[in-house]
Amino acid sequence: MTRFIVFCIAFLLFSCNPIQEESKSPSLYTNAEFGAVVSAHPLASKVGMDVLKSGGNAFDAAIATYMSLAVVYPRAGNIGGGGFMVYHRENGESASLDFREKAPNAAFRDMYLDENDLPIKGLSRLGALSIAVPGSVAGMEAIHEKFSTKSWQELLKPAIDQAANGYTLSANEANIINRYYADLLKQNGEVFYLIKNGEAFQGDTIHPSKLAACLLAISQKGKRAFYEDEIAEDIVRSVRKNGGIITLKDLKDYEVVWRNVIEIDFNGYKVISMPPPSSGGIALSQLLYGFNYLKGQENAYNSCQFIHLNTELQRRVYADRAEFLGDPDFVNNPQETLLNSDYLNSRFSDISKMRASPSLKINKGQVMEVESVETTHISILDKWGNAVSITTTLNGNFGSKLACEKNGFLLNNQMDDFSIKPGYPNQFGLVGNKQNAIEGGKRMLSSMTPSIVIKDDAPILIAGTPGGSTIITSVYQTILATLVYDLPAQESVNLAKYHSQWLPDIIYYEENRRDSLLLDSLIQMGHKVDSKPRLGKMKVVLALDNYIDAAGDTLRGDDKAVVE
Ligand code: DON
Repeated sequence: MTRFIVFCIAFLLFSCNPIQEESKSPSLYTNAEFGAVVSAHPLASKVGMDVLKSGGNAFDAAIATYMSLAVVYPRAGNIGGGGFMVYHRENGESASLDFREKAPNAAFRDMYLDENDLPIKGLSRLGALSIAVPGSVAGMEAIHEKFSTKSWQELLKPAIDQAANGYTLSANEANIINRYYADLLKQNGEVFYLIKNGEAFQGDTIHPSKLAACLLAISQKGKRAFYEDEIAEDIVRSVRKNGGIITLKDLKDYEVVWRNVIEIDFNGYKVISMPPPSSGGIALSQLLYGFNYLKGQENAYNSCQFIHLNTELQRRVYADRAEFLGDPDFVNNPQETLLNSDYLNSRFSDISKMRASPSLKINKGQVMEVESVETTHISILDKWGNAVSITTTLNGNFGSKLACEKNGFLLNNQMDDFSIKPGYPNQFGLVGNKQNAIEGGKRMLSSMTPSIVIKDDAPILIAGTPGGSTIITSVYQTILATLVYDLPAQESVNLAKYHSQWLPDIIYYEENRRDSLLLDSLIQMGHKVDSKPRLGKMKVVLALDNYIDAAGDTLRGDDKAVVE
């Protein structure tokens, strides 16, 4: 009898707990019991995989991975920045979350110009005035409210532990801290946790103890701690003390926005990507359409003709970006026209297969790029087929370089993504006009392109990358590499990338992947070429025929793809 009662209680307990039931359900994938997590740091990928293993879904894993990156990857992982999520659920639903930063209410169009209407060097990129109202914590909480199967505290605990116990620096991370040592020191003084010992070395243990306490407060009180209470007060104090304009009201007013995705029909696949205030989805849609319009697949991948045609497409697509796109809550984006086939046919009809068509005359002074930059991306697929693609950033490496005094996290320099003066390039060489002009409460135009490709209602590719303006072209090239040229995930990530964007009128190649013959051929067609240290750091989950093939970029970074 007692055994019968125990059995009944156990039965009731299990049948009342669908999550526990679900966690026992079998995986859709033949080679993975739990799914896949790809991120920029092995410790963060492990955190995400542990969540999947303990029965969490892709959204749970994404929140835990995100918070972990805020600790172990401070150059781009963040709670002081913002980002976008594109998702596709096992029930077929897809949408996006916009947790992009907003301009403080006191921001205004000419705030970075001097009395002669000239941009004041550095003001939109370094220090307190470059900081916009962060969206990350509100974003993670919104995801949690809608999709989580685990408690907020449980999901934040690994990040809190990493911050409290310390983590070890990789060679790449030590180098990047040293590179930004002077700026970090100038903004924060010697107390800043990343530079305590004067120089960072591989193997050093970093102890962000203020950040541990800050994350603990967020785990206990949720976003209120960040947007209204003690952390909000610290943000405002730290920013205003250094000449910034963020107020408590700016923080309290901050809201995320759920938005419909851009849907792209491409060769029998449905690609979903981020709508404005990111330019990513619209640009990607135009590029994929143009690739088929020009019969791009007739050319070998990365052949001279392939790069030429992509350059011609990109020239036109980035010109549209500069002219037409901005925050949809403030300006009208002519989205329907930009994606209309008649418009695109005529837009691409003058492309010559033989000759470059130079962009406008280029003002020499407008050319690129003052600092290296870093964003980061998370791609996650769970065993039920939920797919999450999140790109997040502080904008530059370590953002504004200014951290909150008491809470120890870095704040973004996202204000530089606005067009601070019509035609004047931002740090990615991108120009813009009044569509993307600064206004209080407005979101700055982004290039972040978190994307998912769907076939027969199942996600088969999750992809995204850092890279500022080069994000769009790296995601585009990865979709082509995997789904048109049938390359596996790692090969598609490793491939040499090429980038062009209307202005400056240059094809960029990767410095250490120089192919002189190819570049000579492009020059003979009328193109100009130049190098960048690297292009893209793609994080890819490919899931064809129920087999997961995931890859991060270990050539260009410390990425870790985990499939278990
Ligand atoms: O939103 C954007 O487009 C930029 N703030 C992204 C910055 C970035 O990707 C820097 N990374 N490498």
